[in-house]
Amino acid sequence: MENFKIPYGRQNIEQDDIKAVVETLQTDFLTQGPKVKEFEDKFAQYIGAKYALAVNNATSGLHLAVLAMNLKKGNRVITTPITFAASANCVRYAQGEVWFADIDPNTYLLSLESTRKLIEGKPKGFFKGIIPVDFAGLPANLEEFRKLADEHDLWIIEDACHAPGGYFTDSKNNKQYCGNGNYADIGVFSFHPVKHIACGEGGMLTTNSKEVYNKLSLLRTHGITKENMSENHGGWFYEMQELGFNYRLTDFQSALGITQLAKNNRGVIRRNEIAQTYKNAFQGKIKFQSLPSGSYNAHHLFVIEVDNRKELYDFLKSHNIFAQIHYIPVHTLPYYKNIGYSEAELTNAEKYYSRCISLPMFPSLTDEELQYVIDKVLEFIND
Ligand SMILES: Cc1ncc(COP(=O)(O)O)c(C=O)c1O
Repeated sequence: MENFKIPYGRQNIEQDDIKAVVETLQTDFLTQGPKVKEFEDKFAQYIGAKYALAVNNATSGLHLAVLAMNLKKGNRVITTPITFAASANCVRYAQGEVWFADIDPNTYLLSLESTRKLIEGKPKGFFKGIIPVDFAGLPANLEEFRKLADEHDLWIIEDACHAPGGYFTDSKNNKQYCGNGNYADIGVFSFHPVKHIACGEGGMLTTNSKEVYNKLSLLRTHGITKENMSENHGGWFYEMQELGFNYRLTDFQSALGITQLAKNNRGVIRRNEIAQTYKNAFQGKIKFQSLPSGSYNAHHLFVIEVDNRKELYDFLKSHNIFAQIHYIPVHTLPYYKNIGYSEAELTNAEKYYSRCISLPMFPSLTDEELQYVIDKVLEFIND
């Protein structure tokens, strides 16, 4: 066992994935082609959203999402400090201001109460939007965020990068799958290899609004369209209507996305089995992310809290278990500090960061490896 290296996350590439990519490489389409459309259609159907638009990564997707919400210079947006920096950076790309609300100390998600306090402490119109994150795979309750957003005329972009396949149950007892667009204006997913669906790099935007979808499509390809072409124009005609980008996903990445998507349910079930085994072993001994009733955690991560986190990290590493920390609070990163954010304001986030550690969580983790990780964690705790 000591010769093994167990990372915190790992992609799962099988023969059907390889075959799909190789077959697509033998077609006429290397960049955007029929596989992109097929991936988008299958993804939209899987998530339960009307529209899906593939992009080259979720960071680009978040950038397009804030632009589609018409974010302008100086506009203020609220997000969580416990996320990957990209959730906040998209606001900065559009010269907006990021404001951080605190997290809930048990779910580790953006706190509704803290967000409400921030909004209600300012005049109406002060904020433009909220970016909740389905952190670790646990769905944010977007029905509650929507109510708050509607009271204050705000848009919602759901950062669902950790959560394809996760859901919360709304007040009408309906399962609301992450990114389905019923409460958020746009959902954003990542296909980075440590995530559920690996494309190498890749991302997907989901929405139920035709208008938002059209805007996102235009911005994905330079702001260029042929829609105003008439009989008087030659076949080369196009117009650039907006300053857009090249954020396209390739066909061979989409072929991989399609086969990976087909395994997502199996992967999420295995992730939940692993989580349950950790919980059974740690119950009453170690604090872990709580699960609100009616929610299904897609478990990109399994996070625990301990007093001596660095020592546990080093101890696990010395036994070939490569745990990870998610995340250094975004407002404490030098870039954000340099533009005026200070530490010690978001007490739950900062306390959480001093104690959190993510244990190995990926579908191909074997029962033997899982037991080894549990044994080592308990050995450390009981020492
Ligand atoms: C919550 C969250 N948002 C956004 C991103 C950015 O994703 P990508 O690497 O696809 O740009 C990540 C990736 O780590 C993430 O974890």
